[in-house]
Amino acid sequence: MSFLEEIEPLKQAALAELNAASDPPSLEQARVHHLGVNGRFTALLKQLGTLPKDQKPAAGKAVNAAKSEIENALAKRKTDLELQAALPKEPTDFSLPGRRRPLGKLHPLTQVTEDIVRSFRKIGFVVADGPEVEDEYHCFDALNTPADHPARDTQDTFYVQSQANHPSTINYQPSTLLRTHTSSVQIRVMEKQKPPVRIIVPGRVYRRDNADATHNPTFHQVEGLYVDKNVTVGDLKGTVEFVFKELMGPETRIRFRPHYFSYTEPSFEIDFSSALTRKMGKEWLEIAGCGMVHPQVFKNVGYDPEVWTGWAFGFGIERIAMIRYGINDIRLFYENDLRFLRQF
Ligand code: DAH
Repeated sequence: MSFLEEIEPLKQAALAELNAASDPPSLEQARVHHLGVNGRFTALLKQLGTLPKDQKPAAGKAVNAAKSEIENALAKRKTDLELQAALPKEPTDFSLPGRRRPLGKLHPLTQVTEDIVRSFRKIGFVVADGPEVEDEYHCFDALNTPADHPARDTQDTFYVQSQANHPSTINYQPSTLLRTHTSSVQIRVMEKQKPPVRIIVPGRVYRRDNADATHNPTFHQVEGLYVDKNVTVGDLKGTVEFVFKELMGPETRIRFRPHYFSYTEPSFEIDFSSALTRKMGKEWLEIAGCGMVHPQVFKNVGYDPEVWTGWAFGFGIERIAMIRYGINDIRLFYENDLRFLRQF
């Protein structure tokens, strides 16, 4: 076979093998097989030098044309294989629904708090706020609860500064503590503004209690304070009734029982009755403390008790949520178990 006749079959063989390569390694193998130093096509190129002089130009032209044809085929196959590798293994189905971002929801305590706030806003109350790390004065003394008052025992809390001193010692220093009730915010607000006052204060409070089904060292309260001229117990009762009917259903009833708080006079505990309390096996459940603001409290914040009257109340948010949703263990609120939280 003459030199010129050999070109075509070798070229075809090279093209066939390149195009048959199914991945980059087999393509490289085919390249080496034909265009490598010892490749089949390279061997032909090497023969070019042995040809008689008059045949060289035509043979050279033909063999170089074939070579670039093979090189072009190699480059094209390389790109094709790279593109193929980049394609997804399975076709995309654009008609499938999109992936949803998981959406959280409000904690049941937040939901109850927001409902309470919403009800009070309807009747002109605004939300007030105060520090959780509080001083003894705002938490107790200003609320007419001096250091030796027995009410302090039931409201013992966590102290931020070391309480090296006992109230009975001569150099007694007031402590910084975690507030045991939101009542401290009554004082903070009245110190800052003139009457009339109409606030509610949702917030976190602390007590030195061991956790059990009905106690937790941290829990939440809502405080209410209304100060104006000629405010009566009737206003208090009407307001509480309105809010509890909104929260617990229209057939909810409330009753006041005489009680004692050092910052109110007279003081009451509020019980309520509804289908929810009956479900828990009781007609009446205690739900809040309240009363008419004590004149001494007004004096402590610079309000004239001869001019101003007012009422205040406080209740636990957990307790409301537990009755509302039929929850029997307060600790469930703080465990953040999604199986519990997803139910609300
Ligand atoms: N501070 C009381 C407590 O933590 C609740 C309370 C009772 C708040 C009577 C008041 C009130 O404002 O007038 O148990």
